Amino acid sequence: MTTVRDLQSMAGEEAISMLTAYDAMTATIAEDAGIDVLLVGDSMGNAILGYDDTLPVTVEEVASRTGAVARGAEDALVVADMPFLSFGTDRAESVANAGRMLKEEGANAVKIESGPHTVDLTEHLADLGIPVMAHVGLTPQSVNQTGYTQQGGDVEQAEEIVEMARAHEEAGAFACVLEHIPSNLAAHITDELTIPTIGIGAGDNCDGQVLVVTDAVGLSDYSPPFAEAFGNVREEMSSAIEEYVDAVESGAFPAEEHSHVAEELDDLY
Ligand code: KIV
Repeated sequence: MTTVRDLQSMAGEEAISMLTAYDAMTATIAEDAGIDVLLVGDSMGNAILGYDDTLPVTVEEVASRTGAVARGAEDALVVADMPFLSFGTDRAESVANAGRMLKEEGANAVKIESGPHTVDLTEHLADLGIPVMAHVGLTPQSVNQTGYTQQGGDVEQAEEIVEMARAHEEAGAFACVLEHIPSNLAAHITDELTIPTIGIGAGDNCDGQVLVVTDAVGLSDYSPPFAEAFGNVREEMSSAIEEYVDAVESGAFPAEEHSHVAEELDDLY
């Protein structure tokens, strides 16, 4: 089992690979392919649940998917993403929501989109034994304030992001996602922090990289410009389903080998 300490010892030595997963099958495939960290991201909202953004994703949805990913994974570190408003309003409720991911669903850690309101919470969760991955830069739960544009492009914004990353490291976060920020800013934060940085749209100087699985395998119908498709699962899946529909319509499926006859029913039917 990979622990947060294992990840921390990889920083600067070995690149950390992280990918989102929302089900047991994907978790098993990703783990067999050597993934270090599986993030049950609230990106499930737009990636697979049909929402326009991540805001409607519920604690129930993340919990259920976290359980599935944890059952499919053996070694990878499983991180459950805390959905919008499941943290930061009431402290006891935040602890209960985060704790549930570990206690009931088998996650090893939680990720929280960071802001000034999550510093104390990060410290409290870490003290309670709930490892917290911080997330700065573009935080999609703030879409109504920032849109999906790159963050940290001017000095004032860049300093705020550095400060936010530093504050969460001091509060006890074990790693920090840097999303959609300039690569020179990400390199600077990576140098400044002792905890690993995991980049997405943040250049190649982070300690690790994360992508949304549907983007990485070429299943998404839209991907952000910083993502890369390493396969074309959408095309494969679509042509397999087309062939299936054709086979059903033409009567080619099911064939004899897909059916069986019960001999004792022979006289009756
Ligand atoms: O929800 C998610 O998938 C994420 C990653 C993109 C970091 O937050």
